[in-house]
Amino acid sequence: MVNLKHSPKISDQDRTKQQIVVLRWGHRVHRDARLTSHVALTARALGCSGFILSDSEDGKLKETVEKITQNWGGDFFFEMGNSWKTTIKNWKSKDGIIVHLTAYGENIQISNVLNKIKELKNDILLLVGSQKVPKVFYTNEVSNFNVSIGNQPHSECSALAIFLDRFFEGKELSSSFRKAKIKIVPQKRGKKTLLT
Ligand SMILES: C[S@@+](CC[C@H](N)C(=O)[O-])C[C@H]1O[C@@H](n2cnc3c(N)ncnc32)[C@H](O)[C@@H]1O
Repeated sequence: MVNLKHSPKISDQDRTKQQIVVLRWGHRVHRDARLTSHVALTARALGCSGFILSDSEDGKLKETVEKITQNWGGDFFFEMGNSWKTTIKNWKSKDGIIVHLTAYGENIQISNVLNKIKELKNDILLLVGSQKVPKVFYTNEVSNFNVSIGNQPHSECSALAIFLDRFFEGKELSSSFRKAKIKIVPQKRGKKTLLT
């Protein structure tokens, strides 16, 4: 399980998979609360190990995400309060790489950027913005890769979901979450849940 407190180094004996943690930059408390919570919940549901909110603190958001994790299971951490600079410095110092999702990056469909990221095998800090991001995000001072999910502007939530689905090749959609108190039993109609 990756966490800034738990090193993102890939040398751990019992870790074989590249881990992904989402770094959300540009959250404005109140204005972005709903979208940021959707970004965090998308990260959790689609296979990430954690979520970092940089340059901002939002206790309500943290509570919402942690409550979902308590009820629906899995290991997913939520961190906030550090600046993006500190977060990135810490991540890089532990051999992690930074992938910046941006409409201006290498197109995931028509380039081999995803293969290049996977070949590296380092843990990934997936940087998503909100309003206009600092220019330095596009440079190798910050990002190892700038990846676009098509070259049209859309949303951090959709970009994140598509990146993760391509990265995990759809397998994340059938994974089960440890220690879940509630599980959905998929059905043709109606709503069925199991409480454990
Ligand atoms: C609503 S967009 C704002 C983009 C902003 N206008 C800019 O120029 O940086 C917010 C975030 O969604 C993500 N995003 C939007 N469209 C994307 C795309 N086509 N590919 C990858 N990421 C995208 C990026 O992370 C971006 O920072």
